[in-house]
Amino acid sequence: MGKKNVTGYTALQLILHWLIAAFVILQLVFVETIGKVVDAGERDTMPTSADRFLADLHYWVGIALLALMALRLWLRASRGAPPVAQGGWVGLAGKVSHATFYIVLILMPVSGLLAFYLGGLFGEAHELGKPALIVLISLHAVAALYHQFWLKDGTLRRILVPRR
Ligand code: HEM
Ligand code: HEM
Repeated sequence: MGKKNVTGYTALQLILHWLIAAFVILQLVFVETIGKVVDAGERDTMPTSADRFLADLHYWVGIALLALMALRLWLRASRGAPPVAQGGWVGLAGKVSHATFYIVLILMPVSGLLAFYLGGLFGEAHELGKPALIVLISLHAVAALYHQFWLKDGTLRRILVPRR
């Protein structure tokens, strides 16, 4: 995926970064209810309509995330992304954590669908994504602040202002 001379992200790549970030937070917050709706189905009881609404939201936001991630990966491959701003362990940590985000955010909707239709172990695998994402997002946000206020290398600006 290494494109030469890429100086920043395009406007569409920036919109995708923040839209996906917002959707992921939404998924992490409105989650209990989809489990309740699945449980109610197994026990033949009726979930409340509020729970059903939030479960539908989880389902469709999750599927939208799969589509948005596919678009994002395709854009990254075709238009490229700027090289990490730092060498050494900081740059390596950046590459590894970004790759982990892509893997987790593809596996989550896939395991979610399998959990929804087949349940069992798929549900447990899908649930592991919650702590994984919380750790990743926390490290990512701390890293962004470290780049901004300690290294002062303009990394945060790259994800806010499109390349020209
Ligand atoms: C759920 C929330 C988030 C997710 C899933 C996420 C995911 C990602 C991913 C995958 C990349 C790599 C983009 C690429 O090169 O293809 C990235 C870049 C970046 N993100 Fe996030 N992000 C999130 C939230 C945030 C937040 C809250 C901040 C700021 C505090 C932030 C700041 C950045 C910065 C500065 C970059 C650019 C890194 C670079 O140019 O090397 N992100 N993010
Ligand atoms: C990136 C997308 C997604 C994220 C971040 C996500 C996140 C989560 C989280 C954090 C939970 C709660 C885990 C817990 O209670 O410990 C959950 C539960 C669940 N999600 Fe997702 N989800 C995503 C996509 C989907 C999709 C597309 C479906 C498809 C139908 C889905 C179906 C479910 C189901 C059925 C549960 C309940 C699992 C159980 O209780 O066994 N998810 N999800």
